[in-house]
Amino acid sequence: MTKMTGNPFYARGPVEPQYFANRSELLQFFVQNIEDAAQNKNTKPDNITILGNWGIGKTSTLLKFQDIIHNEKKDVINVFSVLFPLKPSVCESTDVFTSSLLNAISKQYSISVSLKDRIGDVIKEEAKIWEQWKLESISLSPELRRESRNPDLVDALTRLWGKLEKKGIDLVVIMIDDIHYMLTEGWSGSLYDLRTDIQALATGGQNIFL
Ligand SMILES: Nc1ncnc2c1ncn2[C@@H]1O[C@H](COP(=O)(O)OP(=O)(O)O)[C@@H](O)[C@H]1O
Ligand SMILES: [Mg+2]
Repeated sequence: MTKMTGNPFYARGPVEPQYFANRSELLQFFVQNIEDAAQNKNTKPDNITILGNWGIGKTSTLLKFQDIIHNEKKDVINVFSVLFPLKPSVCESTDVFTSSLLNAISKQYSISVSLKDRIGDVIKEEAKIWEQWKLESISLSPELRRESRNPDLVDALTRLWGKLEKKGIDLVVIMIDDIHYMLTEGWSGSLYDLRTDIQALATGGQNIFL
């Protein structure tokens, strides 16, 4: 009798990149897109949306994307990436969404080892500013808050891009997992807000891929 041990295909979580099977067309499409966007600054990054039922392999695919950019492609392109898993509570308002995403950017980013030191300082610096924005908007009275600038995603990402580009980053990749929460739990129009923000970034020439 043989006892099976160490099955890598844990049925309740995403598969680890080294066991990721098939989907070569999708991976090729992704690689082509990030290479084009990273190497040719005139090519705007495409936005890719991955649709599919629960358990179809969406999270596994994002982990594989992350693995490709930081391992297979690490000598070809310098990418700063973030994988941000959405939760229903994060989708309740623009402010909560923005500060959660910025928080994820400052804490869950991935970068190749060779760039780690240079980028770490930039992120710490920006994270302080984002925290300050958040505190300011919370401490204001509701009337003043309406007039003040809330943490603005486009502004924050535009500043971040400017700094990362100076440090040699070719492309920023932001992956938002379980985006369906924006439809079921989000403030009205949340997905359209996000689309407007992304389009503003593309128009402004920021090399940010979502
Ligand atoms: N490319 C793949 N190769 C091998 N197993 C996979 C692959 N994609 C998904 N799986 C299996 O499917 C399960 C669910 O994948 P997951 O990425 O969590 O799906 P989703 O995020 O769409 O709900 C994983 O636990 C894994 O066992
Ligand atoms: Mg998933």
